[in-house]
Amino acid sequence: MHFERCTVTANEEYGPGHWVISLRSGQDLSGIQAGEFLNLQCDPEDSWSLLRPLSILGVDLAANTMLVYYKHLGRMSRALSSVQAGEALNVLFPLGGRFPVDMSHRRIALIGGGVGLAPLLFLAKQLEDSGMEIDAYFGGASKPDLVLRMLEPYNCNMILSTDDGSHGYRGNCVDCYFDSGRSHDAIYTCGPNPMMNALKARLDGSVPCWASLEEYMACGVGACLGCATHIDNADKRANETVCKKGPVFDLSKVVFHH
Ligand SMILES: Cc1cc2nc3c(=O)[nH]c(=O)nc-3n(C[C@H](O)[C@H](O)[C@H](O)COP(=O)(O)OP(=O)(O)OC[C@H]3O[C@@H](n4cnc5c(N)ncnc54)[C@H](O)[C@@H]3O)c2cc1C
Ligand code: FES
Repeated sequence: MHFERCTVTANEEYGPGHWVISLRSGQDLSGIQAGEFLNLQCDPEDSWSLLRPLSILGVDLAANTMLVYYKHLGRMSRALSSVQAGEALNVLFPLGGRFPVDMSHRRIALIGGGVGLAPLLFLAKQLEDSGMEIDAYFGGASKPDLVLRMLEPYNCNMILSTDDGSHGYRGNCVDCYFDSGRSHDAIYTCGPNPMMNALKARLDGSVPCWASLEEYMACGVGACLGCATHIDNADKRANETVCKKGPVFDLSKVVFHH
């Protein structure tokens, strides 16, 4: 894990309120894996506020940069969009664990919505030469939420959905997945809790499903217990830290409360 002042090399709006920022590091980034995240100082003028957890969308080894996709939500994500190339931000990385991948699998599904697309797109990129068939079921409220420009560089079968029917399947990405009738060796998911809870309710346990959780976080390193979430183990329900033990968990064991 590194704590580094990274230089912003680009910070671009891909669609209304949807941004991608590139952070140049002096570290070797080749070991970073899909599912891992970083904690980022979003306001260069404010070094006192908590860093914000953000998934790693990708790594550009030639430029030695990490990419992050973020959405305008509150104070820090808005401050981040004002940061200019050339400015420097504190970054703690990489945090958490990766998505487990069984290389004998032939066809996998990615099911995600909102900023949950970030770790799934990184997984798609890391597996693009694996020979696996990758079906990506991505959903948004409306067409602009799908951020189509961001999806262009990825080499997987995109099956897109919108709640209002303005692009692709009309409905949410979970219904879209089940209506597709396709079968997969494993599923990877990230998105709002109600979406992942709906997916959990409809899976019968025959397909392994790995979920990346987004919890409120403070320290990001397992020290404050602020991100503890309920995970069902064989004989007991445990509180696990999403930042340290996760953020990726077996979806069938996650207990959603909201
Ligand atoms: C492991 C992990 C990976 C994440 N990856 C990304 C990512 O790739 N891109 C991205 O844009 N965001 C991601 N997030 C969420 C991101 O951390 C929050 O969007 C960010 O902290 C918002 O900060 P803010 O100051 O703009 O908003 P705040 O003012 O802190 O919050 C604005 C609103 O969003 C809600 N909110 C804030 N954080 C969360 C959260 N973690 N879960 C649910 N609701 C929340 C608050 O209740 C409030 O209503 C991730 C979170 C985690 C834990
Ligand atoms: S954020 Fe402190 S323990 Fe997870």
